[in-house]
Amino acid sequence: MTLKTQVGIIGSGPAGLLLSQLLHKQGIDSVILEKHSRAHVEGRIRAGILEQGTVDMLDEAGVGERLHEEGLIHDGIGIQFNGVNHRIGFKARDTGKTVTVYGQTEVTKDLMDAHAARGQDPFYEAEDVRISGIEAGTPTLKCLFQGKGLEVQCKIIVGCDGYHGVSRQSFPSDVLNTFERVYPFGWLGVLADVKPVSEELIYNNHKNGFALASQRSATRSRYYIQCELNESVEEWSDDRFWETLIHMFGEEVGPKIETGPSIEKSIAPLRSFVAEPMRYKSLFLAGDSAHVVPPTGAKGLNLAASDVHYLTEGLVDYFSTGSTSGLDLYSDRALARVWTAIRFSWWFTHLTHRFPENETHGMAYKLQIAELEYLVQSESAKASLAENYVGLPF
Ligand code: APR
Ligand code: PHB
Repeated sequence: MTLKTQVGIIGSGPAGLLLSQLLHKQGIDSVILEKHSRAHVEGRIRAGILEQGTVDMLDEAGVGERLHEEGLIHDGIGIQFNGVNHRIGFKARDTGKTVTVYGQTEVTKDLMDAHAARGQDPFYEAEDVRISGIEAGTPTLKCLFQGKGLEVQCKIIVGCDGYHGVSRQSFPSDVLNTFERVYPFGWLGVLADVKPVSEELIYNNHKNGFALASQRSATRSRYYIQCELNESVEEWSDDRFWETLIHMFGEEVGPKIETGPSIEKSIAPLRSFVAEPMRYKSLFLAGDSAHVVPPTGAKGLNLAASDVHYLTEGLVDYFSTGSTSGLDLYSDRALARVWTAIRFSWWFTHLTHRFPENETHGMAYKLQIAELEYLVQSESAKASLAENYVGLPF
């Protein structure tokens, strides 16, 4: 079967779905090819902090209703070290900036429902997606769908297929420059239907490692603790997880942690990664296909949204006037914001995690504590953290 569309999209994660939905709102047709089933994509548990710019884009896409009903607005975070939790307010009264706690899973569900409602589901379980025709100016996607060959002839292809996707691999090797830092640890995450330990998130630098108290709702919590890369979830019973977490949160917060059976438990590696440029001729990258951040700054989903913001502007310009100026500027504009988030996520990770050189009382640990002590007493340092955390302007 052969289809013709304006924009061919690979991947139905947040980037692909949000792009397709915003293009639809502007009367631009797109087709999404997704290698997994809807249930598989929905089942992936990811972060849950939305910058205001992301919330505004979801409203613009017409999928903000449940987000505003169920999302939790936060205007501060806690940073704990030496057993004491210090609140960093975002001074929303001054900046007007807050973040909204709403799981990426929920964002994905809302966008998938919007596609289904207009009868334009992604092609789920599309196998062996291949890109061709970029050099010839006839951009084409081919795959196996429900056992039959499917060809999608497009004007533009956007790779929203994540870090492990095919689109970045389709760039000529002499065009692409990549930058990567792999961290020597991972995050063990647990989702549980227990009351969150605090109103706001708490980022904890404990001498044994990093821990994070997050949430999904007033009755569902998300916790993380730093773990070794060679550990497996099988080594972490619920009891061992809760005991470790309570110990790391110390006397002030630990006893307040409500425990219960985990409904999801997983280990994720941490990396900082950027691929430049984010465009080759009619092939564009958006989201994790072009960049990955350690989750410490909660930037992954929000960077996918900002890429989509810039790309949608360029595509609307192109399809409505024929001008390529927005598309020509896309990569530089997107990367400028990507690198500010990469830097912030790198800084916040280095400030809060235990690195191999951090012997408990080693120089590296003492420097972390010195910087944390400075941070929590300096209005300008707190303002700098806040403006990065809530999201810099597009
Ligand atoms: N063919 C078709 N689909 C593919 C292929 C392929 N070869 N490779 C990957 N995909 C799909 C994946 O199954 C996934 O659904 O592309 C989608 C990519 O989604 P994400 O990895 O979520 O990336 P993105 O949409 O950019 O969102 C970034 O998601 O993973 C989190 O931490 C990340 O918060 C960040 C956000
Ligand atoms: C989450 O709730 O999953 C979460 C929150 C903040 C982060 C990372 C993950 O920095």
